This record gives sequence, structure tokens and C-alpha cells, in this order.
Amino acid sequence: MSLLLLITAVVLPLTTFARSVDLEGRQAGNTITVNLDQKYQTIDGFGCSEAFQRAVQMSKLTKEQQQYTLDLLFSTTKGAGLSILRNGIGSSPDMSSDHMVSIQPKSPGGPSSAPNYVWDGSDNKQLWVSQEAAKRGVKTFYANAWSAPGYMKTNGNDANGGTLCGVSGASCSSGDWKQAYADYLVQYIKYYLESNVTITHLGFVNEPDLTTSYASMRFSGSQAADFIKVLHPTLEKANLSSVGINCCDTEGWGSQASMLGQLSSVDDLISTITAHSYTSSPGSPMSTRHRVWQTEAADLNGQWQGGWYSGGGAGDGMTWANNIYTAIVNANASGYLYWIGAQTGTTNSKLIRLDGDTVSPSKRLWAFGQWSRFVRPGAVRVGVQGASSGLRTAAFQNVDGSVAVQFINSGASAAGVQVKVSGFNSSTAAAFVTDDSHDISDLTVSLSDGTAVVSVPARAMITIVLKQEEAASA
Ligand SMILES: *[C@@H]1O[C@H](CO)[C@@H](O)[C@H](O)[C@H]1NC(C)=O
Ligand SMILES: *[C@@H]1O[C@H](CO)[C@@H](O)[C@H](O)[C@H]1NC(C)=O
Ligand SMILES: *[C@@H]1O[C@H](CO)[C@@H](O)[C@H](O)[C@H]1NC(C)=O
Ligand SMILES: *[C@@H]1O[C@H](CO)[C@@H](O)[C@H](O)[C@H]1NC(C)=O
Repeated sequence: MSLLLLITAVVLPLTTFARSVDLEGRQAGNTITVNLDQKYQTIDGFGCSEAFQRAVQMSKLTKEQQQYTLDLLFSTTKGAGLSILRNGIGSSPDMSSDHMVSIQPKSPGGPSSAPNYVWDGSDNKQLWVSQEAAKRGVKTFYANAWSAPGYMKTNGNDANGGTLCGVSGASCSSGDWKQAYADYLVQYIKYYLESNVTITHLGFVNEPDLTTSYASMRFSGSQAADFIKVLHPTLEKANLSSVGINCCDTEGWGSQASMLGQLSSVDDLISTITAHSYTSSPGSPMSTRHRVWQTEAADLNGQWQGGWYSGGGAGDGMTWANNIYTAIVNANASGYLYWIGAQTGTTNSKLIRLDGDTVSPSKRLWAFGQWSRFVRPGAVRVGVQGASSGLRTAAFQNVDGSVAVQFINSGASAAGVQVKVSGFNSSTAAAFVTDDSHDISDLTVSLSDGTAVVSVPARAMITIVLKQEEAASA
């Protein structure tokens, strides 16, 4: 008996040793350990917008295709499970072309006149999309104005730049419109509340560093600070202090970083720092204690292609899986939004293409889903140790305790990985893959002694979800 035991004890380690040498020979360095005690930023989510009447386009689909499209965007079982919706607060006097109509299309006369708000119960169909998103679990609604209405601005037009009358360096014969604009934004939030949609974040400007022929408004950092000093108490007085002020949706990451100094006087009044990816994309963290979201990125002009990998093109799904990785892991972003969810037309500016009643999801959508479905709002990014050659790796712990581990394999061959989570009794493992031929499909994963073993296919993104053994139930 004891001799047998001894032999077993000698033989087993040898076998284990031989096998691990073999594994290392083929899969050098692909054992990673997730360290839950190493905590980074908290994630608010991933999202898109249906602003500029893209929601109207969606509403023209058949009822069935509407539901399909909404599921593709927001369902955590049938789609990407996006968790943030960015709505455009209208500033235009009408709905011609793709204008977002204002809730006060006509000037009330002056900044201290009684307001004459108009609520059409639609908000360019964005209210409907919001309600449908909420049904599918979305809780983060970012309402973002591109501009104030023209009559509140130095140029008398909601388009073509100009700035808000009353901020430093912008005086108008019509007076100081800061308070009227703050009241206007608060009224917009109240209309949504009456329709049971709780706006959680409010932005008062979009791309303040750009003048364009559509709704646009210029703000320097200090002008934005002037307005935030009025907006914040206005939200408080309306019992809406839970609505966070976002600033400033600059065209690029770098321009927002350089605005932070001028915002320091209102740092306590800001919730979230927001920037787009057009003039510079997120590469490194901004110097702020606030959460930072990348709120608008897209391949604006590339001709529609829905594929995963065509050599790393700007519209490739895998390119977006990587773009999100860089923003979250290298630049400390807590949120990442594509420009448009679903839209007609022939460019890659959306995740889903609408053409008549044909709804075509792109692999960009599934790239977003590979993150958004498994890294839920409130998740904390955690540490990953151990090199995994040729693979990009990130890990998160969700509010429900589950751990989600992402791998992006840009190589042309599959790579085996073994994942351990220290101090965590992984008792179930599931894995999901997106590549040329899969859209968040089940991937085989085995679990032994708390270590998940999986093969990451060539040019693919996978997510492993690990859950801990529950305390023995009755
Ligand atoms: C909002 O919710 C309340 C209570 O559930 C309900 O009575 C009301 O009809 C809802 N309003 C809208 C516009 O959906
Ligand atoms: C603000 O909320 C408090 C507590 O919920 C309530 O008593 C008060 O009436 C509200 N005030 C306004 C202006 O809505
Ligand atoms: C990352 O962002 C958080 C806020 O979400 C901040 O507290 C932290 O300091 C940032 N980390 C780095 C390295 O900038
Ligand atoms: C893991 O399971 C073991 C044995 O059941 C238990 O002693 C330990 O406390 C558990 N660890 C955690 C972090 O739950």
C-alpha cells in the first residue's frame, strides 16, 4: 500500500512535469493570473447614439425589424448588450433634413421672458429608442446638446459655431442667456422623466473646438466653466443633482486633455470627462480624478463593410475590438461609444446598416458586444499577470462577482491560454468568440482546479466568464 502510494507520488509529478513542458513548448507564456486585488477604473459601459434623426430612420422599419434592431443593439442575450445611449438635445427650429428640433424652437423674447417650451412626445424618436433601450436593461442615458438654440448665441444660429451669450468674451445685445440655457436643459430632462426615462448624464456642448454647417457651438475650457457654474446649481434646485455634468466632447482626446486646466475651477461640479476620437484617439490616461468616456468614434467615410478582418482596415470589427482595448486598458476610459447604432447609407459610420427593411449588423457591433455583454456597468478593471505573447488581455470583476477576461488574438494561428484567478474559486467557466465566422458564439472551455483552459482562434476576440462557487445552498 505505502509502496504503491510512493510510486504514484513519484510518477504523477513526473507526468505533470512532462505535460507542462510540452505545453510551454507550444504555448510559451500563455498562462495568466487575474489579480482581483489590483483594481483600476470602474466601467460605466459601452454605447452609441441615434441622434440627428437616425432614430427616425429606425422607426420606419417594420415593427418586427425595429425589435430586431433594438435587440441587436441593447439585448444582452441577442445582441451587443450596449449599456449607454447618447441622445442629442435638439437646438434647431425645425426637423428639416436631419435637424434635431428644439424643445423651444421660437425665442421666448429674451433671456428673462417666460419660456415657451414645446414637447412633441417624440424628440426625433429618441424617446422611443430610449424607452426600448430601458426595457432591455439600459440605465445610463447621456443627453448631449450640440448647441444652444440660435437665439441664445452670438451668431444667432444653432449651426456654424458661435457661442452662448453671457459666457466670458461673448456678450450679446439680447442679454445673458446662461440661466435660460441651463433651465432649457433641465426642462429636457424633466420631459424624459415624465416619460419614465431617467437621464443620468448631461452634456451642454459637442465638439466645442469645431465650427460646422450643422448644430455647433464654440466653447473654450473657461467659457465651459462659466456655464457649469450656472448649470450645476440649476440642476440642484430642480432636485436633479443626481444628473452628472459631462464635459466637453471635444473632437479628440488630446484637445480634451488640454482643456482640463481651464476647467479646474469647476472640477467639483463635473461628473465625467468626455472626448471623441477624431483628431486624436485615446492613447494614455487624462490627468483627472473623474471618470473619462470616449463618447464618439467611427469610421465616418469608409464604404460599408460588415466584416471582421480585412487586413486591419478602419471599418474592420477586429480594429474596433482593439480600439476599445486601447481606450480601456491604455487610456483608463470608463466608457466607450461608437457614433451611430443603426442608420441608412453606405458608410461605416454606424454599427448596423438599414436599407429598406434589410437590417445588417456589422462585425463592429459584435466587437462592441464582446466587451459590453460581459463587462457590465459598475465592473472594475483588475490586474492581469503573466505574459501572453501575441495576445492582448484585460480582466474585470462585475458587480455580481463574476470575472470577465478578454483576449484579442491578432495572430494568424490559434493560441492556447490558461486563466487562473487568484483568491477566487472559479467553479463555472463559459467562453464566447467573435471572428470571421462567429458572432459572440459559444467557445469550448474547460475548467480544472480553478484554471480555465481555452484555445483563442486566430484573429479573434474571446471573453471568458468565470463564476465563483456559491455557498452551499439549502
Ligand atoms: C410612467 O410610469 C408610470 C408608473 O409606472 C405609469 O403610470 C405611466 O403611464 C408611465 N408613463 C409613460 C409615459 O410611460
Ligand atoms: C425634491 O425632492 C424632495 C424629496 O424627494 C421633495 O420633498 C421636494 O418636493 C422636491 N422638490 C422639487 C422642487 O421637486
Ligand atoms: C483612472 O481613472 C480613475 C477615475 O475613473 C482615476 O481615479 C485614476 O486616477 C485614473 N488612473 C490613471 C492611471 O490615470
Ligand atoms: C474557496 O473554497 C475553499 C474550499 O471550499 C474555501 O476554503 C475558501 O474560503 C474559498 N475561497 C474563497 C475566496 O471563496
